Amino acid sequence: MAGWLNVDVSGSDYDVDLASGRLPWRTNSVACVVSQHVIEHLELRTELLPLLSELGRVIRPGGEIWLSCPDIEKVCRSYLDHRMVDLLEDRQTRFPGYSLGEVPTSHMINDLFHQFGQHENLFDFELLEWALTSSGFDDVRRISEADLLARFPEFPERGDDLQSLYVRASLRS
Ligand SMILES: C[S@@+](CC[C@H](N)C(=O)[O-])C[C@H]1O[C@@H](n2cnc3c(N)ncnc32)[C@H](O)[C@@H]1O
Repeated sequence: MAGWLNVDVSGSDYDVDLASGRLPWRTNSVACVVSQHVIEHLELRTELLPLLSELGRVIRPGGEIWLSCPDIEKVCRSYLDHRMVDLLEDRQTRFPGYSLGEVPTSHMINDLFHQFGQHENLFDFELLEWALTSSGFDDVRRISEADLLARFPEFPERGDDLQSLYVRASLRS
């Protein structure tokens, strides 16, 4: 993203292992963090909570955090109501090459939960709200992708509201 400090574990503007519990930035030096589909790669207690706590240190009071990740509630509802067909078709509109082949559509729930061993845990709003408020954030709100794009028009549209949880919060002043 032009105009942003893009962070990943390798190959980014600023490579950081977000699971390490330490961030290399000064206290109160960051105005805003946006993270899409990363927090589910971190183990809740040993990696994500320490990261959110560190973000609470580097983000200035009143600063913003905007997160998205797979929504466990939407995924489970899709499994129960549609055997994942709606989320499969939705993904195929965004990634036309995505296919489960001859495997029954219910297998897509395994893909969302595990993603080849990359996903540690999924979130619903209650769990993510708890993680954020436990780490010093407040005013946690469930939003949609449209809210994120209205705030940051430079971000590319993903069109993934059907499967994703979007949340914003502020650092407690
Ligand atoms: C599903 S991709 C999402 C990439 C991008 N944020 C997006 O929305 O398209 C997950 C990303 O999380 C990164 N990631 C996973 N574990 C990480 C860690 N411990 N530290 C930093 N980045 C990590 C991966 O390298 C990968 O780029």
